[in-house]
Amino acid sequence: MNSSAAIPRVLLADDQEDVLQALRLLLKGEGFSITTAQSPVEVLAAVKERDFDVALIDLNYSRDTTSGVEGLDLLAQLRKSDPSLPVLVMTAWGSVDGAVEALQRGARDYITKPWDNERLLLTLRTQIELSQALRQRARLEQENERLRAGASDAPILIGNSAAMRPVLEVIERVGPSDASVLVTGEHGTGKEVVARALHAASLRRERPLVTVNAGGLSDGVFESELFGHVKGAFTDAKTARVGSFELAHEGTLFLDELANMPLAQQAKVLRVLQTGELHRLGSSRTVMVDVRLITATNADLAKEVTEGRFREDLLYRVNTVEIALPPLRDRREDIEALAAHFLNGVIRRYRREVAGFRSAAITALRNHPWPGNVRELQHVIERAVLMSRGEWIEAEDLGLREVGPEGSAENELPLEELERRAIKRALQRTKGNVSLAADHLGLSRSALYRRLERHALATDGSDAERNE
Ligand SMILES: Nc1ncnc2c1ncn2[C@@H]1O[C@H](COP(=O)(O)OP(=O)(O)OP(=O)(O)O)[C@@H](O)[C@H]1O
Ligand SMILES: [Mg+2]
Repeated sequence: MNSSAAIPRVLLADDQEDVLQALRLLLKGEGFSITTAQSPVEVLAAVKERDFDVALIDLNYSRDTTSGVEGLDLLAQLRKSDPSLPVLVMTAWGSVDGAVEALQRGARDYITKPWDNERLLLTLRTQIELSQALRQRARLEQENERLRAGASDAPILIGNSAAMRPVLEVIERVGPSDASVLVTGEHGTGKEVVARALHAASLRRERPLVTVNAGGLSDGVFESELFGHVKGAFTDAKTARVGSFELAHEGTLFLDELANMPLAQQAKVLRVLQTGELHRLGSSRTVMVDVRLITATNADLAKEVTEGRFREDLLYRVNTVEIALPPLRDRREDIEALAAHFLNGVIRRYRREVAGFRSAAITALRNHPWPGNVRELQHVIERAVLMSRGEWIEAEDLGLREVGPEGSAENELPLEELERRAIKRALQRTKGNVSLAADHLGLSRSALYRRLERHALATDGSDAERNE
């Protein structure tokens, strides 16, 4: 397959015809192939029809709602139907909350309206380049997978921060047991990585780890997916199917997005967990299954129980051990190691010659609030590698923008304090070499001296006496 001649396919969604018109004009001129949609329904129909390299969707649809809820629902559905499709959202200028929420829910980036043509094109092109490269990569990977079928490689889980150490300890301690583990944490914190690490640390590691997304399956599909069916069990059942529970026999079943499972389905799963027995749809034969259960959610299950959306008995069955993954903003010490890990991966993937990060880039990474957690960091690094022109990744290559006070994490600091800390760190790292520190910070020597005075810092980074 040759992707070099691929025309980028863009899906545009907005309920306002004039917005669509303007975007269509802009993007047609750039040689993109455009499909437009005016409602969430049309968007979902379009993605069923064909593959896109990127989707740019508005967050508000009916004219009199500004809550953005429709757009966020649409985002969730797009993420579910094709997690590899990069989704960019458009928000009205000033409504940063919606953008932050969208990033947390897996949007790759956001554009504020009215948009800046140059920036919009740059953002789109970056995502298209990434998604085309990733698709090609996925194909190669599938091929490799077939070649070394059977080899089980333990996932890499990076974390040495105070916040992550207990997590690693629990994995080591309960991994080898058959205890049910519930992994909780915000989007992108690494719940799936932890599930794989648990399986790899278990005595079942030579047996399969079967993943099922527990949300979004209709009742009929759900049963046949989990429990299987016999030929002729229902009209479309032309052949028999083995369900996930059976596939995971003697291995691990990973039920992801657990809180999204409807109550009726929860009851069915609970029964199998309690008895270790199931019936394929349309069959009266009892099948015994032995699975170790790992579940994940980003919801607060205790709250779901109180509000009647989640069965209490199922909660007790799944949370023998709970691993709560801290958000990335609470483990900033890990950022550098994670960034290096992702950088390595991208370098290998794209065969780029990149030496590493400039210290200003590291500082920017450390100070970003990371609403999208580790996944966002991974995307930022991939994008930075594609954006970088030199040997080193510069702070600008990261494209990290201020998210504004409404969107910032509680522990985000005022700019002034961030600057002070960055300078302190640079001086400490260069052991008081002002020229070198200035270089790392992208400042001239005299500009750095001026800032030392303003922040009352000595040249070794310690707090100086103010001598007025
Ligand atoms: N500690 C880590 N070390 C290395 N890679 C990590 C780590 N945590 C997360 N990742 C990577 O970050 C990305 C997101 O992680 P993952 O899919 O496990 O998150 P998640 O919590 O399941 O997110 P979601 O709630 O959106 O499903 C993955 O590519 C994963 O490999
Ligand atoms: Mg996940």
